[in-house]
Amino acid sequence: MNRIYLCLAHMSGAEQKYIQKAFEDNWVAPLGPNVDGFEEDLKNFLGGGREVLAVSSGTAAVHLGLIGCGVGPGDEVIAQSFTFCASVNPIVYQGASPVLVDSDPDTWNMDPVLLEEAIRDRIAKTGKAPKAIVPVSLYGMPYHIDRILEVAGKYGIPVVEDSAEALGSEFAGRKLGTFGRFGVLSFNGNKMITTSGGGALICPDADTKERMLHFATQARERYPFYQHIDLGYNYRMSNVSAGIGRGQMNVLEDHIAHHRRIAALYAECFKDIPGITVHLNPSADIDSNYWLSVITIDPGVQVKGQECLPPFEGAPGGTPNANVEALRLALDTAGIESRPLWKPMHLQPYYADAPYYGGVNPVSEELFRTGLCLPSGPLVGDAEVEYIIGIIRDNLR
Ligand SMILES: Cc1ncc(COP(=O)(O)O)c(C=O)c1O
Repeated sequence: MNRIYLCLAHMSGAEQKYIQKAFEDNWVAPLGPNVDGFEEDLKNFLGGGREVLAVSSGTAAVHLGLIGCGVGPGDEVIAQSFTFCASVNPIVYQGASPVLVDSDPDTWNMDPVLLEEAIRDRIAKTGKAPKAIVPVSLYGMPYHIDRILEVAGKYGIPVVEDSAEALGSEFAGRKLGTFGRFGVLSFNGNKMITTSGGGALICPDADTKERMLHFATQARERYPFYQHIDLGYNYRMSNVSAGIGRGQMNVLEDHIAHHRRIAALYAECFKDIPGITVHLNPSADIDSNYWLSVITIDPGVQVKGQECLPPFEGAPGGTPNANVEALRLALDTAGIESRPLWKPMHLQPYYADAPYYGGVNPVSEELFRTGLCLPSGPLVGDAEVEYIIGIIRDNLR
């Protein structure tokens, strides 16, 4: 069996047609018909009357979303601590400061109760409300967006939904990324669909999209010469990348169905393995795309070889449990890629000084210590899942 990766890109076959057209028309540049077409396809897929701006990465989209909320030097922005660094770094790009909030135990995403606690405390301490809120749908699992919007609305703070991992995930039948002031998507090589590298900013209306396009194209003013009033960025998607995206739209629904089926298969297979739990939709209104299938491993589960592991060097802020690392190594030896859950930002040395709001037993810290992401992409079939489960079984005592 070939090495099994977490989530590899998978082409529909239609991508070449759009790329070839870009070459034939010599439209090998940022902007162009493929970009317009891809934005339209995404807009139709997402619904909710939102506009879509295709950009060079999900990180760029987070950055633009913050710019669109008016975040600037001296501001604070509340972000989910349990995330990939790209949700939080753009806050620093804007000269603002992140305030990190822990997750709730059922969605693993921003805890609405802690969010309100953080807002109140920041207002008490700094005299002003945070400028934006960035919840993240980690591994595709929706956050409690209704409760987050309720808290945000109470204090008049805009929400930038980091739904980079959640293309197709829904809350109460509506696509993630269409609830907040802005939404973010990523089309990195390992996401639900890819443009090789790219992202999108979901905007509330055409005027806002136009304004954000201005910032994404170096903030060029409408003169025949280069004139700049604002600070801009080169964040536009290329017409060639967007051609890949248009082709990928043909397989998006298949990919989502596939990821969901693989998660259900893991859940079925792990049912009789005590101490291992698959992260599943916690309630009927939450419908994950299951970008990655994720398990947590009870600290009491004994994995062969865990006692022989040398401690990690140079990783301040903590490491996964030894049984998780032993399982990761066993899978790796068997040709299977797996990955510990994302290390929370409040444990990262770079963000050590950021204000952090968590409960007595921080959820994200426990998840980081006990969790493992398993392969779930379009190239992972039933045989691969069976093989992975077999390797896991063989390595448990
Ligand atoms: C939660 C989250 N936010 C943002 C990003 C940034 O996306 P990109 O890699 O396209 O910049 C990613 C993915 O890499 C992500 O997983």
